[in-house]
Amino acid sequence: MTEPESADPIHIARRILVVEDEPALREAYAEALALRGYAVRTAANGEDALAEMESRTVDLVLSDLKMPRMGGEEMLCEMTLRGLKPAVVFLTGYGTIESAVNCLKLGASDYLLKPFDMLQLFKKLGQVLASGSQSHSREAQMREIESFSARLRGQKDSNEIFKALLAQVKRTLAPDNMALFSCAEGEGAPTPLFLWGDGFRQCPSTRCWLLEKAALAMERRGAMVLGPQVGKRAEDLREGVRLGSGAVVPIVGMRGVHGVLVLGRAPGSPPYGREDLRLLNVYAGHAAPFVESLRSRQRFRGISAEVVTSYAQAVEAKDIYTRGHSERVGGYAALLGRVLGVQGRDLDLLRTAGILHDIGKIGIPDGILNKPSSLTSEEYEVMKRHPVVGRDILSRVSSLQDVVPLVYHHHEWFNGQGYPAGCRGTDIPFMARILSVVDGFEALTSVRSYHEPMGVPQVKQVLLEGAGRQWDPAVVNAWVGQLADDSLPDIREFKDSPASLR
Ligand SMILES: [Fe+2]
Repeated sequence: MTEPESADPIHIARRILVVEDEPALREAYAEALALRGYAVRTAANGEDALAEMESRTVDLVLSDLKMPRMGGEEMLCEMTLRGLKPAVVFLTGYGTIESAVNCLKLGASDYLLKPFDMLQLFKKLGQVLASGSQSHSREAQMREIESFSARLRGQKDSNEIFKALLAQVKRTLAPDNMALFSCAEGEGAPTPLFLWGDGFRQCPSTRCWLLEKAALAMERRGAMVLGPQVGKRAEDLREGVRLGSGAVVPIVGMRGVHGVLVLGRAPGSPPYGREDLRLLNVYAGHAAPFVESLRSRQRFRGISAEVVTSYAQAVEAKDIYTRGHSERVGGYAALLGRVLGVQGRDLDLLRTAGILHDIGKIGIPDGILNKPSSLTSEEYEVMKRHPVVGRDILSRVSSLQDVVPLVYHHHEWFNGQGYPAGCRGTDIPFMARILSVVDGFEALTSVRSYHEPMGVPQVKQVLLEGAGRQWDPAVVNAWVGQLADDSLPDIREFKDSPASLR
């Protein structure tokens, strides 16, 4: 393709879809319009054209009337039904002029009688685009921005916001290449998060160039159009991909720059201009507060989780006999949970609950916690408060709400004689029943203030005797099945912190 002719103001709305079943004609129109400076897509019939219009923004449809599968008239009716509003200009011969007139009644903008020369075509398109399409285009942009904002509101993760932004930009600004850099904490160095298009993806030297531009936009905190120097500069790179034009926009929030978006168009595609930059700024400006708020929330969750982990460590420091107990209960719980079909986020929660299950012991006096002999009934009543204290601590941490019932119920008995709620059987949360079994197993196989560790065969016996009374028999059987060789289960694979505590 050759370079476009000089930019024409009416090309603000410049995305044209050529719909023509005859390949030679289709290519001829597309080539001529591209040379004129329009961004051109093509379709071979009405059906393909509708799919194209639904996947990306089109300002004007230049369409034949008679085509296989779906003709122009039917396409126009479908466009109305689906709320697709590009201007439509039909190409028609004398044989179909009645249809063309009918299409005007149905909402087409104009028609052009065959045969025509390209100058007539350009003039007609210019007239249609100039007469009202600008306001139509603004209206369409407003609707796009509104629906983009609505999509952002539904996202729960900053990366999802970035993905929505990329999808929106890809659809409305028709880049050939796109890169998104993420800046941690609103000020970190830009790191590539997403690269799209062969030009940006396949060439290391182009990626260096992109990074340079991203850093520059970050420093300036402003959007830039990369003009003709883009092509020259990229050509200078030994392996660089030649770009016709580019645009760079930082995603700036109240606390800094959260990312940078870089777009590139191939030589021959219309260059990015001020209007494109305005739209890019609008989209990035809409995305920025969402990214910022989700990142703050994630950071807050991380801080909360760190505080909770410190509490858990404090319990172990306080209770000299339970060093490592919480970690081991977490590992055993994850192992048994997986055997019983617990997966994904639930498995992570189960392991976290295992690590935090005795956090309430922070509120139990040391004299009771480390007493080398049996507890009196009064002391036991105090000790029994730890699941309640644990619930009270954890319920203040928003990210750990799902862990709270597991910690609260980890001393319930299957026959209803446990504490604190005294619930029984399947009224006890399933994952709390798992915790109860591995907590008992870990306590019996470890040194305690009141007993020496028992061997695995003896502990298996204790668990089987307590099945149906203290523990869920199905859970006990599954755990005993894991202890076939009478050694302590290997939980090294669970040495890293669970995701909910990171
Ligand atoms: Fe406990």
